[in-house]
Amino acid sequence: QNDIYTAGVHGRKPTVPADFAELERRAKAVMSRRGWAYIAGGAGEGRTMEANRDALDRWAIVPRTLRDTSQRNLEIELFGQKLSAPVLFSPVGAGALAHPNADVHIGEAAAELGVPYIFSNQGCAPMEDVAAAMESVRPGAPRWFQLYWSTDDRLVTSLIDRAERMGAAALVVTLDTTMLGWRPQDLNLGSLPFARAEGISQYTSDPSFWEIVAERIKAATAEKPEISVGAIKTLFSIARNVPGDLRTNLTAPEPRAAVQTFLDIYSRPSLNWDDIATLRDRTSLPIVLKGILHPDDARQAVDSGIDGLIVSNHGGRQVDGSISSTDALVDVVDAVDGRAKVLVDSGFYTGSDVFKGLALGADAVCIGRPHMYGLALDGTAGARDAVANIIGELDLTLGLSGHRDVADLDRSALKHLG
Ligand code: FNR
Repeated sequence: QNDIYTAGVHGRKPTVPADFAELERRAKAVMSRRGWAYIAGGAGEGRTMEANRDALDRWAIVPRTLRDTSQRNLEIELFGQKLSAPVLFSPVGAGALAHPNADVHIGEAAAELGVPYIFSNQGCAPMEDVAAAMESVRPGAPRWFQLYWSTDDRLVTSLIDRAERMGAAALVVTLDTTMLGWRPQDLNLGSLPFARAEGISQYTSDPSFWEIVAERIKAATAEKPEISVGAIKTLFSIARNVPGDLRTNLTAPEPRAAVQTFLDIYSRPSLNWDDIATLRDRTSLPIVLKGILHPDDARQAVDSGIDGLIVSNHGGRQVDGSISSTDALVDVVDAVDGRAKVLVDSGFYTGSDVFKGLALGADAVCIGRPHMYGLALDGTAGARDAVANIIGELDLTLGLSGHRDVADLDRSALKHLG
């Protein structure tokens, strides 16, 4: 952190701006219109995104003085792994919209910082490749896997097996995206199908996926002749490993049907608590449910034997007018009462924001868009430094507020402004 602080003194130019507003501005300038719409955009009128920021602003840090904060500790332990700071990289799909080979660069960035990267189910690189890139930066670099629960259990099982093999320390199940939210920025550009097609590497690298696609094409063509192999091929045009038998019989492109076929496979709107109970038997990995906002759901999750929660509204991308993650965090922390780990994300863009999340009872905070903007600006170094800046500011905020260890933070460090 000291390095970042003194970089200016030594005349080194930072790779990314030190404040979020400028980071966002610079990233927008280098990104495509479609890429910006997908990554920066939110649901509906953007009220949930605003609420995430407003709720953080309504908590004020009340610094304490004269407490000797010359030595500080940011390290924590999470699911048996030591992390250099209580920060994770949120799972972000379709990252290629920001930078080629996004997931590999983000993985390297997280490994350099010694904090976990949660691989997205909608990633742009097979999880095995990202894990290998992280290993070459730091052996044993912490990595988790995020699952979107497919409509086909064969794919779910296969993805979990692969996650276990590639060394995932936890399995995150995202609950808030069983269907895609209402995203006007993408809808207005008509670009959602293109964005989705950027994040299919976990699927196209999975043999069970092609088995399922082949079955569905067969069933669909019998019923509805307009859904063809050609349509599927259009959607998966960026995938190099389309199996040979599916490459035959290409007809005119029908992207809409292809997108529908993909969406039908990718996520299960009927997902319910019984599925979570079966998952408990299927893996010994710690299970973390992402997208919990209601305290009753948090209680039920703990009763179902899960190990952690991520309080999240998906960065304001799913339900417009949703409760902010910070307001939800307070109730969820009280409901969980120490029986599971509680993480949070959505709108945490500075060290001061992370400080507030921890003081409100989160064990760690996940960072989404900032690392994507850093990635867009400067690949691995940009993604790393966008998050390093947040960690650097967290360290200073901790000390300047009179605390030596992130573990010591509680609500007495804050005042709610009403
Ligand atoms: C996401 N998010 C997400 N979450 C998830 O579980 N799986 C995914 O594939 C994605 N994909 C994704 C793409 C993009 C472009 C964004 C911005 C977000 C949600 C993400 O994990 C996280 O919850 C939010 O990004 C956190 O909010 P902030 O930090 O972006 O405000």
